[in-house]
Amino acid sequence: MTSTDPNWWRDAVVYQIYPRSFADANNDGTGDVEGMISRLDYLQDLGVTAVWVSPWYPSPMADGGYDVADYCDIDSRFGTLAEADAFVAEAHARGIRVLIDLVPNHSSDAHPAFRAALASAPGSPERAMFHFRDGRGPDGDEPPNNWGSLFGGPAWERVIGPDGPEQWYLHMFAPEQPDWDWANPAVVALFDDVIRFWFDRGVDGLRVDVADGLAKQPGYHDTPIDPATGLGIATFYPGHPWWNQPELDTIQRHWRAIADGYADRHLGERIFVCEANTKPLSALMRFVDPGRMHTTFNFDMLWCEWEAGSLRAMIDRNLIAHAAVGAPTTWVLGNHDSTRVVTRYGKPETGKPFTLDGVTPEWQHRFAEYFFVQPTDNALGRRRARAAALLEFALPGTAYIYQGEELGLPEVEDLPDAVLDDPAFFRTGGRVRGRDGCRVPLPWSGTEQPYGFGADAAPWLPQPPEWAGLSAAAQDGEPDSTLSLYRRALAIRATHPALGDGTLAWGDTYPGTVLYFTREPGFGFLANLSGDAVTLPSGAEVLVASGPLAGDVVPPDTAVWLSLPA
Ligand code: BGC
Repeated sequence: MTSTDPNWWRDAVVYQIYPRSFADANNDGTGDVEGMISRLDYLQDLGVTAVWVSPWYPSPMADGGYDVADYCDIDSRFGTLAEADAFVAEAHARGIRVLIDLVPNHSSDAHPAFRAALASAPGSPERAMFHFRDGRGPDGDEPPNNWGSLFGGPAWERVIGPDGPEQWYLHMFAPEQPDWDWANPAVVALFDDVIRFWFDRGVDGLRVDVADGLAKQPGYHDTPIDPATGLGIATFYPGHPWWNQPELDTIQRHWRAIADGYADRHLGERIFVCEANTKPLSALMRFVDPGRMHTTFNFDMLWCEWEAGSLRAMIDRNLIAHAAVGAPTTWVLGNHDSTRVVTRYGKPETGKPFTLDGVTPEWQHRFAEYFFVQPTDNALGRRRARAAALLEFALPGTAYIYQGEELGLPEVEDLPDAVLDDPAFFRTGGRVRGRDGCRVPLPWSGTEQPYGFGADAAPWLPQPPEWAGLSAAAQDGEPDSTLSLYRRALAIRATHPALGDGTLAWGDTYPGTVLYFTREPGFGFLANLSGDAVTLPSGAEVLVASGPLAGDVVPPDTAVWLSLPA
């Protein structure tokens, strides 16, 4: 059973389930809740203490379920509400907490509130739930401002009514994802009900999608033009009219009060995890000020290059900033939106989250901060990813595992265009390849597709032939497999008194290309990011290593957990 520890979330090991691609019990090529239930024993053996389930709600799937048509039900492709309840109960019975995705920035265009808005007149209360505006120009045929969508193209779509073109509505993402207007108290009330609906069902926490984007500046003024697209800049910059607005403070404190109202239900604290890319870190930390949200998802680590100085600086700035507000730091290597860590660390440039292939020079320039195009060395990447997992689990705070990281899965970089599903691919005319390569269904067992994902149905995205050797069954019991490494490390983490929440102290006996820190009592972490072999501290006993050691010598791109002499 889950404990009643109110601090469970301060050092949780959270496993992200992307339901479409996790396990397919009804053999239709798409994952489902029954499949999730069937793999809970696996997650318990792995040693995770919580799961985060990406959207499982009814959805037309214009954005993989992040277009929600009903926040209080389960998509029939995934199962039923009764099965979701069973999933929560079965997870709790194994000591695993359940976080689910809350998608409050936008709905689906199939949501009844949006359908009602379309059917109502301009200026109506129905339209006031969203951002409907008249267009510019003599016939209103120019969008209300120059804002660009994060998935490419303009952030406004024109409504075509029975009498022809009329108002426009705002969508920061796909046109099928209209943005709610959070200045409207009716929107606040609608989401209060959604939050209570899931907390009442025993869900332990909510991961808040696009948590930094809900409030829009009144006035909808133009943003500076992005030369690559000719549209307003959609990505964050200080002063941006929709990212990180001051109104978020009120919204988050209101939600926190709702969560705190559940403190007496004997399940431990209900929590919020913000998905926010807000920069600088000092601005992001306002999200976890006392009385606001519990934690934020750590993009700083997700986008940090595999380089000792950068990692150490990233770790320090996060620990210091979080300690100042009393929040635990989260540590993250991947999610359903970024190139898998094995592939990222196998590139010459290791600090970029997305793969961008075959794009025009303007687009490469536009996204130079985010994308890489170089070829990958997956063997090198996997070695580094294994070392990074030991780093992540040794750090003070909460660790996230994106499904398949424990199997060392690479990004599938060569999915044919015909199977791609990400709206970013379509909205950019194929210039951005999108995020499907990290969403390929998991290989569980067997030697050919679907590798136990379902019984024999072709999975919704094809799996590569090399995945036979990476399936959970193939790695089970193999002492050197990535799955065994994860299990061993998480078992140690669960009982070692130095691990989990707390502090660390850097040791300075090694060169700057080696990460070495200790935690009390008696724990040492060493990762060799230099090109040379490094010798273990004397008297240290190895608890677990991310790769083979030669006696007391740690090869490059290898990490070890140590028991240190008193
Ligand atoms: C989710 C994405 C999604 C976007 C819009 C995100 O940040 O993680 O998968 O496309 O929000 O909902």
